[in-house]
Amino acid sequence: MNRLEVFMQETAADVEKRLDYFLPYADMRPEILHQAMRHSILGGGKRLRPCLVLAAFEAAGGPEPDRPRTLDAACAIELLHCYSLIHDDLPSMDNDSLRRNRLSCHKAFGEAVAILAGDALQALAFRVMAMASGPLAGPAVAELAAAAGSTGMVGGQALDIEAAGTGQTLETIEWIDRWKTGSILACCCRTGAIFAGAGDEITAALTAYGETIGVLYQISDDILDLTADVKKLGKTPGKDAVAGKLTYPAARGIEKAREMVAEKCSLAKSVLQRFGKEALYLRLLADFLRDRANPDFRSRP
Ligand code: IPE
Ligand code: IPE
Ligand code: MG
Ligand code: MG
Ligand code: MG
Repeated sequence: MNRLEVFMQETAADVEKRLDYFLPYADMRPEILHQAMRHSILGGGKRLRPCLVLAAFEAAGGPEPDRPRTLDAACAIELLHCYSLIHDDLPSMDNDSLRRNRLSCHKAFGEAVAILAGDALQALAFRVMAMASGPLAGPAVAELAAAAGSTGMVGGQALDIEAAGTGQTLETIEWIDRWKTGSILACCCRTGAIFAGAGDEITAALTAYGETIGVLYQISDDILDLTADVKKLGKTPGKDAVAGKLTYPAARGIEKAREMVAEKCSLAKSVLQRFGKEALYLRLLADFLRDRANPDFRSRP
């Protein structure tokens, strides 16, 4: 395993433990709701968002004693992400039956429970963020709320649904990618900066990095939807074309999309130039995200 793989695996293991601790037990009433929450959030996912929070915290020189509470903040964002995936899979949205190599929440528990499990995970996300951040709760919670809301992830999801089948412009695609995915990835970096006590300039650089890899990540996800198989993806491929989703590879072709991913990766790393080796994981993550959508790297997670 290389350094990044070790970092990602260790972070995933730490996140899994803390999430298990935060979630109500599966035999606690209402059992089906708690089972649905646990089904969707435990035992799967790349845990990219927590990795980003911790990598940004390290890049901003966060002190080691503050790492455990930063890990909890990272779990809060993973909780919010998982809620967004449950709702994204609903029949009224992308209508997906597979997620993280298992049945999507509404397939396993029914639509009403899936909606409520998403709602409850979102509420838990804010609770965990508020508890983790103590005196920093104001900025940290406001950051998460802004990234999740109608001018962030949810706004992007609305644009994504609205634009399906319309063949709109590249500009609309950029808006969709920035909002539905970029806003949460930038939030991860900003949260790492907040917990590290970073100043404005460091925070601005980390924000620019997060926004850029957010767009990169969604374009890669869209390429993988077109090119990868179900086993590697853990979700159903080919769905975007069927739904007429407005994506960069659909509009410009896969090769152009890969070029765009490489361009965004260089841009993301160029905004890290002011940092030294403390930003190593952010640089390695940018390369890893670029290479995911490249056929030579498909065997990687
Ligand atoms: C899927 O996110 C939705 C997107 C924003 C592209 P991930 O690809 O990070 O999904 P998990 O968390 O690893 O399952
Ligand atoms: C979803 O984008 C982004 C979210 C905010 C959840 P997609 O719809 O492309 O994500 P997948 O491919 O279902 O994971
Ligand atoms: Mg979607
Ligand atoms: Mg989807
Ligand atoms: Mg997708």
